[in-house]
Amino acid sequence: MTPPVLDITDLSATYMEDGRQLLALQHVNIRVQPGEFVCLIGPSGSGKSTLLDIISGLFAETHGTLAIDGKVLTPSQRPGATSYMRQRDLLMPWRNALENAALALEVHGYSPAEARDRAAARFEEFGLAGFEQSYPAQLSGGMRQRVAFLRTVLADRDLLMLDEPFGALDALNRAALQQWLVRMWEHQKQGVVMVTHDVDEAVFLADRVIVLSARPGTVVHEEIINLSRPRTRAMVTAPTFLAHRAVLLDALGLLEEVGV
Ligand SMILES: Nc1ncnc2c1ncn2[C@@H]1O[C@H](COP(=O)(O)OP(=O)(O)OP(=O)(O)O)[C@@H](O)[C@H]1O
Ligand SMILES: [Mg+2]
Repeated sequence: MTPPVLDITDLSATYMEDGRQLLALQHVNIRVQPGEFVCLIGPSGSGKSTLLDIISGLFAETHGTLAIDGKVLTPSQRPGATSYMRQRDLLMPWRNALENAALALEVHGYSPAEARDRAAARFEEFGLAGFEQSYPAQLSGGMRQRVAFLRTVLADRDLLMLDEPFGALDALNRAALQQWLVRMWEHQKQGVVMVTHDVDEAVFLADRVIVLSARPGTVVHEEIINLSRPRTRAMVTAPTFLAHRAVLLDALGLLEEVGV
């Protein structure tokens, strides 16, 4: 049997701040199967970004084990094992859009020329055609986000991690990229862990939605989404969709606040 693409057992994480320990995550258990699309939601400060930073090796847990593709990895073994788009993904200002997009491929051993060719072939699909030579300062916020997204997708690991990838996009751009992400995922079938604060986006995209509590973050609810694939926009008004949405808003404790 193929092992889970991600297997986290009893993970805790602590930051040091002004000489004090701040517990960000505690007793987190998460398993993601190959090709499964998981969305992660939770209040601000619940440790969602911290969790993805730990999985990618940018930050070390204080307790627990973490396996990728069935192999337990120490923090220093994790960089490069996953494709990761951070919440505030900074492009390198001295590299143009094409060179930024090609970065992950260069890191994974392609020559700069080959990496640029492969990246260039996807610019049209990401709505970036014609902006290959533009520098980050010359791009709109949404375009910068799409370049960072393209760079992450090109890394092509078994686990794709996205931290609010569409946060800075307007509704039209956002809907287009959601559709695009679903199509790409249906085709490539990577495991995905995507952080979003948008419950509708989570239900629309995911096979399963994991809810983290307020800090220290721990898993308080898991919702398996019973919507067929391919997903279509028409589904967002279906009773099943609305039922999932209500359960998740309840788990987040938001029902009263938003007046549902
Ligand atoms: N480098 C750091 N040093 C100290 N504390 C940190 C650091 N990074 C995050 N924290 C703290 O850890 C907790 C979790 O932060 P994290 O960024 O993981 O939350 P989040 O769930 O991603 O929030 P958001 O939805 O706002 O992005 C917060 O209380 C935050 O202040
Ligand atoms: Mg975050």
